[in-house]
Amino acid sequence: MMSQFDNVTMAADEATDCGFGESAPAPRARKLFVQSFGCQMNVYDAQRMTDLLGAEGYVEAPAAAEADLVILNTCHIRERASEKIFSELGRLRELKIERAQAGAATQIVVAGCVAQAEGAEIYRRQSAVDVVVGPQSYHRLPELLRRAERENRVLDTDFPAEDKFDFLGLPAPHQIRKRGVSAFVTVQEGCDKFCTFCVVPYTRGAEMSRPLGAIVGEVAALAAAGVREITLLGQNVNAWHGDADGSPASLARLCAAVADVPGVARVRYTTSHPNDMDDALIEAHRSQAALMPFLHLPVQSGSDKILAAMNRRHTSAAYIALIEKIRAARPDIALSSDFIVGFPGESEEDFARTLALIEETRFASAFSFKYSARPGTPAADSAQQVEEAVKTERLARLQALIESQRQAFNRAMVGRTVDILIEKRGRHAGQIAGKTPYLQPVQIDGDASLIGSVVAVEIVATGANSLFGRLAQSRPEPVQTMRGSV
Ligand code: 5AD
Ligand code: SF4
Repeated sequence: MMSQFDNVTMAADEATDCGFGESAPAPRARKLFVQSFGCQMNVYDAQRMTDLLGAEGYVEAPAAAEADLVILNTCHIRERASEKIFSELGRLRELKIERAQAGAATQIVVAGCVAQAEGAEIYRRQSAVDVVVGPQSYHRLPELLRRAERENRVLDTDFPAEDKFDFLGLPAPHQIRKRGVSAFVTVQEGCDKFCTFCVVPYTRGAEMSRPLGAIVGEVAALAAAGVREITLLGQNVNAWHGDADGSPASLARLCAAVADVPGVARVRYTTSHPNDMDDALIEAHRSQAALMPFLHLPVQSGSDKILAAMNRRHTSAAYIALIEKIRAARPDIALSSDFIVGFPGESEEDFARTLALIEETRFASAFSFKYSARPGTPAADSAQQVEEAVKTERLARLQALIESQRQAFNRAMVGRTVDILIEKRGRHAGQIAGKTPYLQPVQIDGDASLIGSVVAVEIVATGANSLFGRLAQSRPEPVQTMRGSV
């Protein structure tokens, strides 16, 4: 299954070449280690923090133990994600003490959504932290770090008037190359939907869209350095809106503008809300060849009672009708989704409706979670909380169903010839690895000179998580419907 957290890690041995740290004023460049938790937007933010501090003379360290500055870029979406941060901070505190005994100072920064939501609590529970900075103000990090050398406990969880993107600049070409041929670009942040389980509207704030020109400029810099695939990111990415040549534009227009950038072969976007799938975007899936036929469209539940309690503002039938419309426009589109089991008040009958929706829709993959009560969200106060054991049992049933659909989808690929974007060397010598349009990883016998190319590959077998293929002479075959193929 594709990973929501499928990032390209930064190789430390390459960190000092091509100018990263060239302007370092200090005799020994300070070393930085950023650890990111959670979603793809956090991966993107971590990269931008690395770029920002690179311009200040920091170079990347291979591990926290070797770093003068450690940044935890945190996730608050579920309780377990938050708790992980506090145990990680405990380890970092030990490290800070050990390094201090050896005469080395360490600064610890907590960034991201836990920082935003629990800034004061972080300082209460962990005194080793030097800076707490929220997701909308990390462009101020250089200044905050300088302040932290003078003051104790610097906290910045503002939603500032200035736009952080205006201060971030563009990543250096060598950094882009190191991160691989597929890149994330945040185009929209925040959420106005207020689903009753979700912390995002509180941690990331109100919806905002970056201007089209700024996005295209960033994509052009990425493509010029060799990036071939762009994933447009937003908590509610299909609510993106902007202005193109003086006229209002929605995400379909942005996808077209990004696809027009020389070098860009593939465009994706995530994560979407069903109510923001406008006709132009559905039409884009028919008409824009670069827009990949894979759509992550969270539905959360198949029960109308639960959907209403979640404040999703659509019914199960409306979701299924939307999928029909999208499939009519692009018959080979594959779908993935997010599901929450054990939302307050979910009965066995409600859960059965979720399973029925999955049976009817058929997904290529999905993410599924036990409901986790988040402080400050309306559902957390419900008196109808579902027992943990029931959540565990429902999650297992849902995941078994999704897994059988995923395997069926993968098996149906065998014998087909599909376009693969070659991303990196493969697991074994002489192998290369890439992704299908549906984000399935594929291992292929081939030469590393193909990295960055889109090549026709015949799928010959499936493994537990990857497909196996061989380079094909022929072009990919005409589309097949996902439904017909599973
Ligand atoms: N409990 C469980 N899952 C959640 N998600 C968001 N908030 C919660 C929560 N409180 C899931 C939703 C969302 C995905 C990113 O995380 O399914 O789509
Ligand atoms: Fe959270 Fe997504 Fe709902 Fe917004 S639309 S509140 S980000 S689940």
